[in-house]
Amino acid sequence: MIPKLIYVLNGPNLNRLGKREPGIYGSQTLEDIGASLLERAEALGCTIEMRQSNHEGQLVDWLHEAEDKGAHAVLLNAGAYTHTSIALLDGIRAISAPVIEVHLSNPHTREEFRHVSRVGQAAKGTIAGFGANSYLLALEAAAAL
Ligand code: DQA
Repeated sequence: MIPKLIYVLNGPNLNRLGKREPGIYGSQTLEDIGASLLERAEALGCTIEMRQSNHEGQLVDWLHEAEDKGAHAVLLNAGAYTHTSIALLDGIRAISAPVIEVHLSNPHTREEFRHVSRVGQAAKGTIAGFGANSYLLALEAAAAL
């Protein structure tokens, strides 16, 4: 069987995971999360393409790329762009692959400006608040789509 291709796109400041506000985001690095995803992906019959960028347009380009490469689904933690980016909202609507919004923290329990999600307005669903495990839960959901 051909493995399902899952893009995992990460936005600004997520390259600092492990060092960045560990009380909120935990001690695992993005590389650690990537390694856990890779292991789980194999068990689920998926392959992972994992990327991180601090630049909004790059994330839009990768959404388009995911579609062009025939991705089965995209996991997107857009970081702070979640709350501001109409370009990402439109980018998600511009592709047919389902996008699952992922957050380590639960933005709804935090500052008010995090309560709005532009990404969530176009996402298939959202998994938030489970730390690094949010990514693994999102992968399970993506594989089952
Ligand atoms: C985040 C939540 C966002 O509000 C924040 O800007 C981030 C990380 C999360 O994974 O919890 O950068 O997306």
